[in-house]
Order: sequence, then C-alpha cells, then structure tokens
Amino acid sequence: MSLIKDSTVALITGTSSNLGFNIAVRLLEQLPSSRDITLIVTSRTLPKVKESINDIKQYIHEKIPEKKNKVEFDYILVDFTDMVSILSAYYELDQKYTHIDYLFVNAAQGVYGGIDWKAACVEVLQNPIDAVTSPTYKLQRIGVESNDNMGLVFQANVFGPYYFIHKIKHLLAKDHGKIIWISSLMSHPKYLSFNDLQLLRSPESYEGSKRLVDLLHYGTYKNLKKFGIDQYLVHPGIFTSFSFYQFLNVFTYYGMLMLFYLARFLGSPYHNISGYIAANAPVSAALGKSKQAIKTGSACTRFGKEYLSYEEVDTTGSEDVASYFNKLVKEWDEKLKDQIVNTRQP
Ligand SMILES: NC(=O)c1ccc[n+]([C@@H]2O[C@H](COP(=O)([O-])OP(=O)(O)OC[C@H]3O[C@@H](n4cnc5c(N)ncnc54)[C@H](OP(=O)(O)O)[C@@H]3O)[C@@H](O)[C@H]2O)c1
Repeated sequence: MSLIKDSTVALITGTSSNLGFNIAVRLLEQLPSSRDITLIVTSRTLPKVKESINDIKQYIHEKIPEKKNKVEFDYILVDFTDMVSILSAYYELDQKYTHIDYLFVNAAQGVYGGIDWKAACVEVLQNPIDAVTSPTYKLQRIGVESNDNMGLVFQANVFGPYYFIHKIKHLLAKDHGKIIWISSLMSHPKYLSFNDLQLLRSPESYEGSKRLVDLLHYGTYKNLKKFGIDQYLVHPGIFTSFSFYQFLNVFTYYGMLMLFYLARFLGSPYHNISGYIAANAPVSAALGKSKQAIKTGSACTRFGKEYLSYEEVDTTGSEDVASYFNKLVKEWDEKLKDQIVNTRQP
C-alpha cells in the first residue's frame, strides 16, 4: 500500500471498541488540518478491522469532510495474549514505518463469567450510584492462563502491550512520539497483590490489571522521556461498552443506561455514557493538554458538558512493578529471538 509521506502516524489498539473508535475520530478532528494522517487500526480479526475502517470513513464523510483526503488507513492484526502475534505486529510495523507519533494502549479484556444478578439487585437497591460506578457483581473467572502460560488478563491488558512498546520504541522515539495508556476509575490499590502480579489468584483481575497500568506508567515514564517518548496515563470515566452486551438483554441494558443517567444527574462526574466524551482525556493527553505525573480523566457535568479531571495516584510499588516487567521482557526477548527469520536474505 502507498503510505502518505511524512504523515502523522497514529496507532490505536482495540480500534473496534467504542472508545477506540471515538479516540480515532476525535484525533482526526483535532489534529491540524494541514497534516496528512495515517491511522493504523488494530483488531484480532479482519472483519472487525474492516468494520472499524468503514465506521471511521463514514464519520469523516458525515462530520469532517475536509479531512477526507488527509487520512490514509492501515491495519495490523494483533492479539496481546499471544507473544508471537505481538512480535509479528512489530515486525510488520518495522518494515513499513520509520516513525509512530501516537500509540493509544486501549485494547483490554476481562475474563467475565456473567453477572451475579442477586448481588446486582441488592447493590442497585442499596446504592444505585455505587452500583454503576464500582460494580462488584460482575463475575470474573479466576486463574485463567494464556497459551503463553501467563495470567491472561495480565498479558492482554498490561504485559502484552508493554512488550509491544518495548519492540516499537525506536519508532516512537523517532519524532518524539506519545504513548497514552487507558486506565480506569476502577484501579484502586486494593485490587492488586504484590504476591500475585500476574493476577492468577485474583477474583478482580480486570481491576488489578488497571492498577498495574497505573503503576507501570509511574515506574517507566521518566525513563521513556530519556528516549524522547512522552507517556501519559488517562481514564475514560464510564461509558457504554460493546463488551458487556452479551450479558444483558433489552431490559437490563436500558435499565443500566437509565441508572447511568440517574448517577450523572445526581452528580457523578464520571458517567460520561458517550464514548465521544470518554475519549476526551486520551486525545487531550496526546495533544499535550495534560501532565505526565497526573492521571487525567474524562468527566462531564450533569448535563453532559465535558471537562477534564486530574487525579493523584498512590504510586507505591511502581519501581517494583517496572522491574518485574523489565525482567519478563528480557525473558521473552530470549524466548522469541529465533522466532522470525528473514527468509529472503541469501
Ligand atoms: N467501558 C467503560 O466504562 C470503561 C471504563 C474504564 C476503562 N475502560 C477502558 O477503556 C478501554 C476500551 O473499553 P471498551 O469498553 O470500549 O472496550 P471493549 O468494547 O471491551 O473492546 C475491547 C477492545 O479491545 C480489543 N481486545 C480485547 N482483547 C484483546 C486482545 N487479547 N488482543 C488485542 N486486542 C484485544 C478488542 O478488539 P477486537 O475484538 O477487535 O480484537 C476491542 O476492540 C479499555 O482499556 C477499558 O478497560 C472502559
């Protein structure tokens, strides 16, 4: 494919998600009109790549037609629970690109087993705002390992993306690139035990992975700066996600949505509901409107007017987490060193 020369290159992991799509369109809206942009869409599957590209093209056509001839699309297929897949994604990017300007680490998964409906009803009746802010009734399976023998959620949400960054660091460093990690409101220190960094014994592995994201950011951003890369930590608040639809029917979906609006009306600043508002903090960070030492959140007023919130994070253990990850990176460099060979060389 013909890539636009000297374009701004942005890669969004999990572009097929509500947040991924909205990061893409907000970024396209806000980057200067004079810039050509190459948007690298990622997914685990080709149909979702095609769907994402079509959705973004449709948005450009309807809302930002002036950008139509400024944007070129590319894609990579990558599964962060598979180290060989990450390595081939890196290899492909390394062959095609000399620089990557923005990397949004947005893809994430949990290992959900369903909803504890009884607990959900009790929580909703006792405290409806809490029930839709920090729900504890989503059931997560414990001890799920990836085929690479790591904690699956640990690898999907944190180590896999971290290894990817390690491999493409030179591309990010080339033109002072930016990395934006998507964390969550649900990343309280209580979700992570330092005796279980791969979250294999945790009943809250998703939340634990977000705590790891926070600590990894604080343990690495200063060092990345020395390479010429700026890394940011953001959270998108709460918004409608495609991932939980499978557990909801039409009544529970609209019930949840109603509670979201109620929580917002009663003063919760984080019930953004819309993916577009949720993408405010990630895109603002990318465009230099937030500080690296603070977690920036997407928030809105009770009438849905967006703004940014800034939060201090307890960084206890960030150096230990960074050392653990760096040690694991070295182990995987060693394991993968003969994985891709250039068969075209004589
Ligand atoms: N929804 C919320 O209220 C909320 C709140 C706080 C934080 N967040 C964070 O916001 C981000 C987006 O959330 P969302 O709810 O919009 O996402 P989502 O609907 O759950 O979609 C997840 C995305 O991640 C990708 N993905 C999942 N597992 C992957 C893997 N193993 N390898 C590569 N890609 C993988 C999926 O890509 P494919 O299926 O196309 O492969 C999909 O695009 C996540 O980081 C989430 O933790 C969400």
